[in-house]
Amino acid sequence: MAETITVTLTLNGEERTFEVPPGRRLLDLIREDAGLTGTKEGCGAGECGACTVLLDGRPVTSCLVLAASCEGREVVTVEGLGDGRPHPVQEALVATGGIQCGYCTPGIAVTAAALVGSGATGEEEVRRRLAGNLCRCTGYHKVFEAVRLAAERGEGGDG
Ligand code: FES
Ligand code: FES
Repeated sequence: MAETITVTLTLNGEERTFEVPPGRRLLDLIREDAGLTGTKEGCGAGECGACTVLLDGRPVTSCLVLAASCEGREVVTVEGLGDGRPHPVQEALVATGGIQCGYCTPGIAVTAAALVGSGATGEEEVRRRLAGNLCRCTGYHKVFEAVRLAAERGEGGDG
């Protein structure tokens, strides 16, 4: 039997333990071991952002992260963004039409949620921090509009 490593991490607020091969990617742990298929694989090479999740609150491309390096850490996927209902950025993406085919959307929603949470929602900052999330469909303007809308709603206390 192949060697495995035990990894315990917090996944969407719940402590979970997995037995993984040493080279297993965080993306595969999330999708295949935990069954959370909201996180997508695009390039598998750190270029497209489709696989973005939050690792200790910071967006990372989970295709480039080893699951074994996540021992004791906190991972949030698109499924864990909202608090029992869609996160404000998810609602704003729908409201602005910032979703078309939707393949990039989980990664964009995760990155945007971190952005809005940090309060760094100036136009240049939004463009810079979303630069690693590629989208073939929307032309990005509606995505940027969604971040602005979510930030405004957050400031208004309408989360
Ligand atoms: Fe990870 Fe493209 S699948 S960056
Ligand atoms: Fe299709 Fe972004 S909505 S890739």
